[in-house]
Amino acid sequence: MAKGTKLNLYSIFACTATILAASWVLAEVENCEMDEIEDEALRVEVAFAQAGLIDNCLPVAPEAILGVKFPTVQADLGNCLYPCSTILTPLLELEGDPETNLTVAIMDRDMPSAATPILSNYLMYLCLNVNGSSLSTFDSSLCVAPWINANPTPGSGKHRIMAIAFPQSSFIDSSSLYPFSIDRYRFNMSALIANYSLGAPVAGNFWRTSIPKDYGKYCGIETTECCAKTGNQYY
Ligand SMILES: *[C@@H]1O[C@H](CO)[C@@H](O)[C@H](O)[C@H]1NC(C)=O
Ligand SMILES: *[C@@H]1O[C@H](CO)[C@@H](O)[C@H](O)[C@H]1NC(C)=O
Ligand SMILES: *[C@@H]1O[C@H](CO)[C@@H](O)[C@H](O)[C@H]1NC(C)=O
Ligand SMILES: *[C@@H]1O[C@H](CO)[C@@H](O)[C@H](O)[C@H]1NC(C)=O
Repeated sequence: MAKGTKLNLYSIFACTATILAASWVLAEVENCEMDEIEDEALRVEVAFAQAGLIDNCLPVAPEAILGVKFPTVQADLGNCLYPCSTILTPLLELEGDPETNLTVAIMDRDMPSAATPILSNYLMYLCLNVNGSSLSTFDSSLCVAPWINANPTPGSGKHRIMAIAFPQSSFIDSSSLYPFSIDRYRFNMSALIANYSLGAPVAGNFWRTSIPKDYGKYCGIETTECCAKTGNQYY
């Protein structure tokens, strides 16, 4: 109990500090290239804020980058990845080895589209009680919602896919959990944070995804062709 209280007080402090820092940073670096910001925490914060990801769902930006790696591509603070290159469960990486257990979630913030996100968030991945120092090798039985690829409808524009890791204040018993693997629409992350007293996010990342413009030409039959030949045109 004492530990949980401490974590929450810390979150409130971190939250206030981050919001102050974020407004200052946004004013300062409005026209800067992301690459020019060297400090990692600042880069993550600015990228999340610029992508509109800091809101009721995520009140405070993560402190560090969460590596999200697929066989041929990886998330990089808002880059574009075709759904066909994110089919397999991603490998997660976090430097800094926190001694706490983490809750890791990946979700589509723009379901069915950014304009009308009435089914958001669409939960793509949720794992609980992941030891932060073994993030890249954890047992998939800790995932209450195994990986499901992004599934943007053709013509629905770019979707922001957000990956985020929260420190837990205690062990979460998944036996009484909501059936997240079955009902993946309208995932309420604030409710998850509140229900399990999760702390301020330690790490995060995001990418954008969309169906390539010439979907019918390349993507119907063979998905590797789709990735190789469609260039940068999305719709
Ligand atoms: C995570 O694993 C490390 C190394 O095995 C261990 O020392 C630590 O206590 C574990 N953390 C938790 C929260 O179980
Ligand atoms: C961390 O999670 C592991 C299961 O992965 C569990 O055995 C351990 O008790 C948890 N530790 C804490 C401090 O919640
Ligand atoms: C999500 O959960 C929070 C906290 O329980 C609640 O206040 C909010 O109304 C919920 N949002 C939606 C869209 O249901
Ligand atoms: C949070 O707890 C409420 C009340 O027990 C439950 O209805 C809801 O499904 C939970 N939500 C999440 C995301 O854990």
